[in-house]
Amino acid sequence: MTAEAEKIFLTGGSGRLGSELRRLLPGIVAPDETELDITRPEDLAQALDESEAEVLVHAAAYTDVAAAEHNRRLCWKVNVEGTRNVARAAGERGIFLVHISTDYVFDGSRGGYKEDDPVGPVCNYYSLSKLVAEELARMCPRHLVIRTSFRPRQWPYPVAFTDVYTSQDYVDVIAPEIALAIRRCRDIPYHTLHIATERKSAYELAKRRREDVAPASKAAGKVALPDDISLDSSRWQELKKRWSSP
Ligand SMILES: NC(=O)c1ccc[n+]([C@@H]2O[C@H](COP(=O)([O-])OP(=O)(O)OC[C@H]3O[C@@H](n4cnc5c(N)ncnc54)[C@H](OP(=O)(O)O)[C@@H]3O)[C@@H](O)[C@H]2O)c1
Repeated sequence: MTAEAEKIFLTGGSGRLGSELRRLLPGIVAPDETELDITRPEDLAQALDESEAEVLVHAAAYTDVAAAEHNRRLCWKVNVEGTRNVARAAGERGIFLVHISTDYVFDGSRGGYKEDDPVGPVCNYYSLSKLVAEELARMCPRHLVIRTSFRPRQWPYPVAFTDVYTSQDYVDVIAPEIALAIRRCRDIPYHTLHIATERKSAYELAKRRREDVAPASKAAGKVALPDDISLDSSRWQELKKRWSSP
């Protein structure tokens, strides 16, 4: 077994996932957006040099899927140009980059996507920006792209779609898995990893934490949503099994 990563640097530490990771990975260096704007390469250079990071977890992103449709410039700047800056800065310093990506890089027509399945065509602008970001992250010689999906700890809406299938889960279920992958990133013999749970409808997921949630159809939603965006995470399950066996 290789040594656990020691100096971990996190972008997006104030976000939904980032907040959980800060709790799960004590000692992680996580400047907020006032200290580090990923669209400014000079900010990144300074922050990385000061931190002497060995692993950079890139969880900062423009994540408002609906707003991204009309706020394309900002979405592109943060997700695409920001990730290019992060990948370049990490690469120049020999830092291992763990890039947080999304199930939305797939078209969502059939579900059960494996890591090596072809990506796209994507169904909204946010997904396009994240797909391009993923490829930019791969410019960093030492990298791991984690595709995932999560909800806040409580289901936030009074309704949930019965006709959207997903392998996402609540952030307090997914974040510990991602934290483990970060700790063991040097032991992962792949450049892409799906971290998710089993396939279910969004409504089934919502019901687990919100008893009174009402069923609805995605036709009522504001943005185009895929039918089945579920990820196959057997690669991750196998890795964990291997690590836990004597
Ligand atoms: N939520 C999901 O369902 C989901 C699904 C799949 C993948 N992901 C991916 O997982 C990652 C984390 O998502 P999340 O839901 O935790 O996001 P979030 O709650 O929206 O947080 C986004 C984070 O990015 C930071 N940020 C935005 N622009 C920045 C900039 N220019 N420079 C530096 N930091 C900036 C934000 O800082 P401020 O708070 O200061 O603005 C915040 O800390 C993202 O890469 C997202 O694409 C999310």
